[in-house]
Amino acid sequence: MSKGQQLLNWIDDRFPLSSMLKDHITEYYAPKNFNFWYFFGSLAMLVLVIQIVTGIFLTMNYKPDGTLNGAGIPVAFASVEYIMRDVAGGWVIRYMHSTGASMFFVVVYLHMFRGLIYGSYKQPRELVWVFGTLIFLCLMAEAFMGYLLPWGQMSFWGAQVIVNLFASIPVIGPDLSVFIRGDFVVGDATLNRFFALHVIAVPLILLALVVAHLIALHEVGSNNPDGVEIKKLKDDKGIPLDGIPFHPYYTVKDILGVAVFLIVFSAIVFFVPEMGGYFLEHPNFDQADPLKTPAHIAPVWYFTPFYAILRAVPSFAGTQVWGVLAMGAAVVLIAFLPWLDKSPVKSIRYRGTKFKTMLVLFIISFIGLGILGAMPTTNLRTVVAQLLSFVYFAFFLAMPFYTRNDAGSTPVPTRVTMSTPARQVRFAVLVAVTLAVAALFAKLI
Ligand code: HEM
Repeated sequence: MSKGQQLLNWIDDRFPLSSMLKDHITEYYAPKNFNFWYFFGSLAMLVLVIQIVTGIFLTMNYKPDGTLNGAGIPVAFASVEYIMRDVAGGWVIRYMHSTGASMFFVVVYLHMFRGLIYGSYKQPRELVWVFGTLIFLCLMAEAFMGYLLPWGQMSFWGAQVIVNLFASIPVIGPDLSVFIRGDFVVGDATLNRFFALHVIAVPLILLALVVAHLIALHEVGSNNPDGVEIKKLKDDKGIPLDGIPFHPYYTVKDILGVAVFLIVFSAIVFFVPEMGGYFLEHPNFDQADPLKTPAHIAPVWYFTPFYAILRAVPSFAGTQVWGVLAMGAAVVLIAFLPWLDKSPVKSIRYRGTKFKTMLVLFIISFIGLGILGAMPTTNLRTVVAQLLSFVYFAFFLAMPFYTRNDAGSTPVPTRVTMSTPARQVRFAVLVAVTLAVAALFAKLI
């Protein structure tokens, strides 16, 4: 027996290493028809690791201190400048972290969208989805609190606007917003607690949720683009007929996804880290100034669909709380998809026209709201945002009705099918048309 085998046996007698690797990697059978959409789970894990590692290095030089230094510059802001200009490799670490934040949302939005089109939230994967929604909530909290840390103008005023929202909650609101800030205005106490939460508390919860997400997924097995449950058809050894071992097949496939992702990621980090003001907003290059409100306060792009919903709801009975409630509901409703969708069919491929139409409307509403939320309001934009918010909510709230009797013309197959070039071309055309329409809308509105 080789030394390596002896070591492995020694470990296995004390810790179930081999059996864990078998259960979750080498003998974990995944459907053989995974496509493009199945890259994003492993990419989300990659970005999580990038954020944690770059975050650790940033913390070595960042100072969560809102007081002014001898030159009249807030210490936190100055420490970020110091990282960018003086710390060896500091700029690349910081750009990786800021790009990583946006790319996390790109990847997670696509990952969630995959769940939506293939019905991956449906029975038996309800808990995979619920854990996913909790991850999404944590991710939003993590990004919001991280954004305050550079202590720039947008950090300060963005936090000011969002924390003030809590003040509109009846009875407890004013006390709650003071509790969150640790002060009557966003200040040093706010920066200190956001730092603590961003650096340790939320990442710990996030990691625990990702583990729970994956344990739940491996308990029931992955869904796939046909929505066929591969565990229902097994050979005499108990191996699913449509399954292939995760390793080496999907480890190799995921490496391709990682390579393409890293090319895009590096191109952004090295050539366009600000991404035209969408990944790093221009007002944030100015230090926080509580006496000077920026002309236009907008959240980072990944919050804009929800921000547009908030702004679309008018204040009523002397309170703005309705907008806050609508924004909260827009996120929370996502968790209820498994119970709102009454269709026996999972994948979009075999759904009827009602679901497909509602999905197209939902995509239009989400992208449209995202574009509107990044812009200052006008009367026309408010009306369009109200219309799109209505569509957004209708997609969820009317779902029990339009999914009930909505069979597609092709029945769900019993075995999985592989993608065809025609399908891939159709997909590429769809993506191009969606992007072109979104760009046109942004220009016209
Ligand atoms: C840090 C964020 C996340 C990480 C690291 C993560 C990781 C993963 C991984 C590795 C998989 C298996 C591979 C794959 O199917 O692509 C997966 C599957 C899944 N995830 Fe996530 N995920 C995250 C966030 C979310 C969110 C926000 C949702 C939804 C709200 C979600 C819903 C799902 C679903 C439904 C599946 C099963 C998909 C299927 O089998 O078709 N995940 N996730």
